[in-house]
Amino acid sequence: MANADILGIESSCDETAAAVVRSGEQVVSNVVFSQIATHQEYGGVVPELASREHLRAIVPVVRQALKQAGQCYESIDAIAVTQGPGLAGALLVGISYAKALAFALQKPLIAVNHLEGHIHAVLLEEKQKGNRHIRVPVLALVVSGGHTHLYLARPLNAAASEPPRAGSEQSQGAWIYHNVGHTRDDAAGEAFDKVAKLLALGYPGGPIIERLAEHGKPQAVKFLPAQIKHRDRKHKQNATIQSLSFDFSYSGIKTAVLRYVETHNMKAPIEGRRRQLAAVPNPGTQDVLSICDQSTLDLVASFQWAVVEDLVGKTLSAAREYEVGTLFVTGGVAANRQLRRRFEEQSRREGLAVYFPSRVLSTDNAAMIAAAAYPKFLAKDFAAPQVSAEASLRLG
Ligand code: KG4
Ligand code: ZN
Repeated sequence: MANADILGIESSCDETAAAVVRSGEQVVSNVVFSQIATHQEYGGVVPELASREHLRAIVPVVRQALKQAGQCYESIDAIAVTQGPGLAGALLVGISYAKALAFALQKPLIAVNHLEGHIHAVLLEEKQKGNRHIRVPVLALVVSGGHTHLYLARPLNAAASEPPRAGSEQSQGAWIYHNVGHTRDDAAGEAFDKVAKLLALGYPGGPIIERLAEHGKPQAVKFLPAQIKHRDRKHKQNATIQSLSFDFSYSGIKTAVLRYVETHNMKAPIEGRRRQLAAVPNPGTQDVLSICDQSTLDLVASFQWAVVEDLVGKTLSAAREYEVGTLFVTGGVAANRQLRRRFEEQSRREGLAVYFPSRVLSTDNAAMIAAAAYPKFLAKDFAAPQVSAEASLRLG
C-alpha cells in the first residue's frame, strides 16, 4: 500500500505534542511543547494548569508539526490521538481538538493508548534503523512518571514464541499485550520527582537527579531490600502466565529518603536551598550543584542506584521466567543513562537483546502515538464519533 502520513496528537500530562509519522516507521516531524516552566514552582504537575496550557498550545503545536513536515491539514491521511491513561482534563483537550479536526477534514480518527504509544516508540526507532527482525515475545518495561508496567508483547499474528522470520514484516500489524507486573503504589518516575521535591532540587526530578548523581557515591547510603518491596511470584503455586506477577513499589524508598533526611539533620540546608533556588529563574544543573553538599549528592546517587537496580533486577527475573529473547525499556525514566547502562550490561550477560527509544522519543511525544496508530489505520480500526478521554485506560 502507498505511504500513509498520520498526524499524532498527545496531551495526556504536561507535554502538548504533535507529529507526522509516515507508515509507522519514519518520523517526518516531531514537535513537543513542554509545560515544565508552568509547573516548576509547584514541584509537580497541577492538573488545572496543564489543561489551560494545552488549550493555549494545541493549535500552534499542530500547525508547527504540519509545517515542519511540509504538509497541510488536507494532505494527511489520518489523525491519531491519545485516549488515555492520563489527566482527564488534559486528555480532553487533545481529543476534542482531534475530533473536530477529523470531522472538519473528513479524515479517519484513531484513538491510541498512551502506554502502547511508549512501546511503539521502540518499534519506531528500530524500524528507522532498519531493524525489522525483533525476536518475540518481547518483555516491555514502560517506566514513566505515571506508570511502571511490565508487558509481554507480540504481534497478533505471531505464535507465542515465534523466532524472527527473515524478511518478515511482523511489526506492521497489530500487537497484543499481557500485563505481568505493575507498581503497587508510586511509579518510578514519581519517586524521582517526589525525592527531588523533598530535597529541594527542582522539577522534574529525573533529569536533575541523574545529573547530580554523577557527583555522588552510589554505595554511600544502603537502602534495605524491604524498602523496595519485591512481591514477585506471589502465586507461585499456580505458576501460569496469568498468575505470575512481578510488581514494583517505590513509596518505601521515598519514605526511607525522608527518614534519612530527618536523622542526618538535613532539613535546614534543604530549606536554605529551597529559598535560594526560588530566587533563580529556571535554575540549571550548575545552580543546583553549587548549593548541594556531598551528603546530598551521595544520597541522590544511592537513591538512583537502588531504583535502577530494582527495575533491572525485576525485569530480568521476569524475562527469565517468560523466556523472552528481547527487552524493550521505554517511558520518561528510560531516558536515564545509568538505567540504560545497567540494562545493557545485565542483558548482555543473559544473552538478551535490549532496545530503547532515543532520549527524545523516551519522554512523552506524539510520534509514538502516530506510530502506534498505523496498524489500526491498516485494519481500519477507527474511533467512533462519540469517543472520549479515559483517564484510567488499561493496556493488556
Ligand atoms: O513518559 P513521561 O514523559 O510522562 C509520563 O507518561 O509520565 O515521563 C516523565 C517522567 C518524570 O517522572 C521524570 O522525572 C522522568 O520521567 N524522567 C526521568 C529522566 N527524564 C525524565 N527519570 C530519570 N532519569 C531521567 N533522565
Ligand atoms: Zn508517558
